Amino acid sequence: MSEVHVHRVKPAWKKRALIDSDTYEKWHKDSIKNPDKFWGKHGKRIDWFKPYTKVKNTSFKGKVSIKWFEDGVTNASYNCIDRHLKKRGDQTAIIWEGDNPYDDKKITYNELYEHVCRLANVLKSNGVKKGDRVTIYMPMIPEAAYAMLACARIGAIHSVVFGGFSPDSLAGRIEDCKSDFVITADEGIRGGKKIPLKENTDKAIQIAEKAGAKVRNVLVVRRTGSKIDWADGRDLWYHEEVSGAKPDCKPEKMKAEDPLFILYTSGSTGKPKGVLHTTGGYLVYTSMTHQYVFDYHDGDIYWCTADVGWVTGHSYIVYGPLANGAVTLMFEGVPNYPDASRFWEVIDKHQVNIFYTAPTAIRALMGAGDDHVTKTSRKSLKLLGTVGEPINPEAWEWYYNVVGDKKVPIVDTWWQTETGGILITPLPGAVDLKAGSATKPFFGVQPQLVDGDGKELEGSASGNLCILDSWPGQMRTVYGDHDRFVQTYFSTYKGKYFTGDGCRRDKDGYYWITGRVDDVLNVSGHRMGTAEVESALVSHDKVSEAAVVGYPHDIKGQGIYCYVTLMAGEKGSDALKKDLVAHVRSEIGPIATPDKIQFAPSLPKTRSGKIMRRILRKIAEDDYRALGDTSTLADPAVVEDLVENRQNKR
Ligand code: WTA
Repeated sequence: MSEVHVHRVKPAWKKRALIDSDTYEKWHKDSIKNPDKFWGKHGKRIDWFKPYTKVKNTSFKGKVSIKWFEDGVTNASYNCIDRHLKKRGDQTAIIWEGDNPYDDKKITYNELYEHVCRLANVLKSNGVKKGDRVTIYMPMIPEAAYAMLACARIGAIHSVVFGGFSPDSLAGRIEDCKSDFVITADEGIRGGKKIPLKENTDKAIQIAEKAGAKVRNVLVVRRTGSKIDWADGRDLWYHEEVSGAKPDCKPEKMKAEDPLFILYTSGSTGKPKGVLHTTGGYLVYTSMTHQYVFDYHDGDIYWCTADVGWVTGHSYIVYGPLANGAVTLMFEGVPNYPDASRFWEVIDKHQVNIFYTAPTAIRALMGAGDDHVTKTSRKSLKLLGTVGEPINPEAWEWYYNVVGDKKVPIVDTWWQTETGGILITPLPGAVDLKAGSATKPFFGVQPQLVDGDGKELEGSASGNLCILDSWPGQMRTVYGDHDRFVQTYFSTYKGKYFTGDGCRRDKDGYYWITGRVDDVLNVSGHRMGTAEVESALVSHDKVSEAAVVGYPHDIKGQGIYCYVTLMAGEKGSDALKKDLVAHVRSEIGPIATPDKIQFAPSLPKTRSGKIMRRILRKIAEDDYRALGDTSTLADPAVVEDLVENRQNKR
């Protein structure tokens, strides 16, 4: 392995940082030795209507039960808004930067209070009650944050669905959690292109209602003003409803373990799971990680480029930053519109201090050339962050040298929808950086590497990454299916939370995430089950069988490679490939667009009929010379055809 370049903590970072290396070591030790005491103290960072007396009550064994601060009573919306009003009512809470560079606005905490209260009253007057599920299918506009916080205010459980998902995907999510209220917009706009959100919602509701769901109301934000279909009695205009609503709404008293939101995410099997997060522990954990990982100081301008449709948007655009009274920037657009200097121009325009984005964006912008970066100042930057997938050392060094001008630390943060917040990350004033490593566990986090049999691997080693004990931000269950929760995360290695990621620990105890070890793809930082793409493909009437694997992709991290067997009598053609690509996009959404399609007369199977994915992965990577043991194949000739017709010839 090549020499790893270590970037030591610089004196300037030490001087600014909230946590130095001694504090990190001490707090981490304390948090593991006595979690009740540690979290009992840090739980007080949020406001409680009724203080908790119990702190940690968790078990990863048997039925698995996770409760934090269980007898405490609080409200997430209150913590993100009301408690700041005295001190920072006139401070900006949200800076909104539109898709169009001339479109922006600032929303103060006082204004946020009024927007959220009005909307909360609209929800109530339209029959939304505590515990009801509200689906949010929105572009990146402030109303998306208002919608989340309005739900939290009245105790409704929000389920945000990424605006890039298709009507089918949206329908599945509406059905699964039996949501009867949807908030959307007429259209979204990204990179100058319009996204027909209301039209998609109408289609989704039709599909969901065929399956027995019932949607009572659709609340529609007017974003572009384009003409849309309207269902009288069901559809409501957002601006009309809020204008008549009262600007005050008392926050509902929520128990710490009352649900805050559901967020669907892909696993290795079946349909997406509704990851359930609850109120108290989630807010404590996201606010604490936001403060210490990003070294957030009062007044800093903070920008996370994620979409609120993903967990990163939930925890690090909305809940974490707002609970801390931060200034959080929300961006409607894309990194390369109008051109590849957009990110850096926005940083200068709003004097952004902390910038958090995904490796795929960094790689794409690196490819666009340094000029786009160097023509901007970026002097305001104090910290850079990445999330979503492993960052290759070249991209890391470019981010450090070119974007950060060698002055700014990078926090490579590893976490998951399931973990609620960041688990492995450097703290910028405490931990020396190594390009490509997420470095060290956050407070309260105990990583462990195990081999295939679950045996602990010590010292420097590579294995499967487990977490030994609970932290407050952890998911509590799969919505409506606790058995699936236990089965998915705690049965592979009994009594341990299994992340699904592979990982290496080096001699300094640094963690290097190597990527998923299950059948989950990570395409441009978006999680996707191979099974989901396969079932989209086989729903096409010319397809009899499909197998999907990932392969290394320069920009996206992983590309989607599909092996497709056609129905008898059908012939593969470029036109059919195009049709299949369009079909998958309409079934799941553009994020699942196949990169390569290979027509295969048959797939390599064991004698018991199991598809040998290992072989398919090797062929997709053009690494077919190292196919390994193929002696268990039912018909070895199948492989020769696959190799011959592979789509990734180097
Ligand atoms: C991957 C996103 C390497 C990992 C917050 C994980 C990462 C999955 C990193 C979760 C990182 C996330 N380095 N890999 N810094 N961050 N991942 O649920 O495979 O969308 O399991 O949550 O992304 O994706 P999810």
